[in-house]
Amino acid sequence: MDKIKIAIQKSGRLSEKSLDLLTECGIRVSNGNRKLKTEARNFPMEIFFLRDDDIPQYVEQGVADIGILGENEVWEKDKDVQIVEQLGFGNCRLSLAIPKDEQYTGLDYFNHKRIATSYPKILGRFFQKKGIDVKIEELGGSVEIATGIGLADGIFDIVSTGSTLLMNGLKEAETIVRSEAVLISNKHLTSTLSALLEQLLFRIKAYKNGQGKKYVLLNVRNEVIPDIVQLLPGMRSPSILPLADKGWSSVHSVISDDDFWEVIDELKRHGAEGILVIPIEKMIL
Ligand code: PRP
Repeated sequence: MDKIKIAIQKSGRLSEKSLDLLTECGIRVSNGNRKLKTEARNFPMEIFFLRDDDIPQYVEQGVADIGILGENEVWEKDKDVQIVEQLGFGNCRLSLAIPKDEQYTGLDYFNHKRIATSYPKILGRFFQKKGIDVKIEELGGSVEIATGIGLADGIFDIVSTGSTLLMNGLKEAETIVRSEAVLISNKHLTSTLSALLEQLLFRIKAYKNGQGKKYVLLNVRNEVIPDIVQLLPGMRSPSILPLADKGWSSVHSVISDDDFWEVIDELKRHGAEGILVIPIEKMIL
């Protein structure tokens, strides 16, 4: 039977989370001995562990069918691949940074300046659009050192927590674009491989849908049920089950983490009792 070949980052910011996502999708991968190629035990899938900046090329060529990597690498490599799903992890921004004692005066600050980066295409396109002339110094990594050693006046790189900038005496001047991990696919999958990708996507979506949400159960007097239903719309509408105690019902629903405390306060105000909040592992809509 055909196996779908997925490329994920060998080591770095996305590697562990990419494997975690496969685990959440019920796909068991053992990579104890750091092999660069392995097979899933319970899903027709081969896993390649690669450098993330090589993944777009491998997927374009069909060496790998699909891949997980930062969207920033997809933009930079500009290969003919398809982004099929935003994955909601590995969030970062691509920013311009300058030495912390410099006074930043706006984008024109960079006119005729040298900027070191591993993302020359993204940066080049950005400044070209703005009509600002910069000299780009392309580096493979350790970009933050460039200003300190006199190679560049500023840098353009991934910022996540900002601690690398801080440790290297830099400050963020402009955020150019935000990025997160994405699933990409070769554009010419066979029907068998497309079906496997659909199966994987179904599982990824079920996992993502459950993220940032909680399952809530509570008891209320029957007369306030209409108000409670307004507060807890749920997926379709809340489930309402009569309690043995006459005049009371149990209401079950799904609630977003963002609204959580506000809604709980409102529920209590309406006399809800015995409120239970449970994490959701998967949610199939
Ligand atoms: C990125 C980037 C910075 C660092 C920023 O490196 O090149 O060095 O992360 O993160 P922070 O704002 O949380 O300090 P990454 O770990 O992805 O490795 P690489 O770019 O060298 O492959």
